[in-house]
Amino acid sequence: MQVERKKECSNFLYVKKEYYIWAYPLGGMFFIGRCRAENLFSALFCIYRLCIFTKSMKKKKIIVAVTGASGSIYAKLLLDNLQKLADQVEKVGVVMSDNAKEVWRFELENTDYEQYSFDFYQKMDFNAPFASGSAKFDTMIIIPCSMGTLGRIAHGISNDLISRAADVILKERRKLIAVVRDTPFSLIHINNMKTVTEAGGIICPANPSFYSIPKSIEEVAQTVVSRVIDLAGLEQDSYRWNEENS
Ligand SMILES: Cc1cc2nc3c(=O)[nH]c(=O)nc-3n(C[C@H](O)[C@H](O)[C@H](O)COP(=O)(O)O)c2cc1C
Repeated sequence: MQVERKKECSNFLYVKKEYYIWAYPLGGMFFIGRCRAENLFSALFCIYRLCIFTKSMKKKKIIVAVTGASGSIYAKLLLDNLQKLADQVEKVGVVMSDNAKEVWRFELENTDYEQYSFDFYQKMDFNAPFASGSAKFDTMIIIPCSMGTLGRIAHGISNDLISRAADVILKERRKLIAVVRDTPFSLIHINNMKTVTEAGGIICPANPSFYSIPKSIEEVAQTVVSRVIDLAGLEQDSYRWNEENS
């Protein structure tokens, strides 16, 4: 008996006489069914809707907090990257401290943070959705993260939206990525990083790598941002050590 194999929406359809047998992978399971030839279009439509549904289920809600540590270029590149990864992201909420805006103007010589189409929140706006765990944001990235903000988070001092949002992410056992920036570190900084790590946060220092032979400041900074995007669980094309075509 001849069996024809067709690919549809990353699912396989096996056409066997008048029956169509379909299989659909979802959440580590495999759903298998069969339909008669005359119901094929309805079945295809259902699979198509399932594709859209599962894709939207995986989309992330991300908080980006920018603080007054040196390295505004990291924040800029992350926001640029998130714009390009729009198909994986449901929502991006951005909050900047006063010093973050000042350092951005100083280091990048512009106010381009005003140009992004993401939802921006004032640093004292406790009405922002992610000031509460009920809004179900998956991931918070603090980039760059000052030692002041790190210290407030480590000690649960939720006196602005950034420290409150981080507090929420940690209490809800979601993902907090702090791209800390200073050098050298005092014992106070190191202890604060330890505390945040013990509470479930990820300390991802703003330490660029050079094994991809970056050619510009942007490429150097991108080595950090690419690691952050990996940690956030987003898919991207980036340099990977010893992989072909990267
Ligand atoms: C140009 C400039 C660079 C700075 N770089 C750093 C830094 O790398 N790390 C840091 O912890 N603070 C740095 N600071 C100091 C912070 O901006 C300051 O401690 C501020 O209170 C942090 O508050 P925030 O976390 O609410 O932004 C810098 C300040 C300026 C003006």
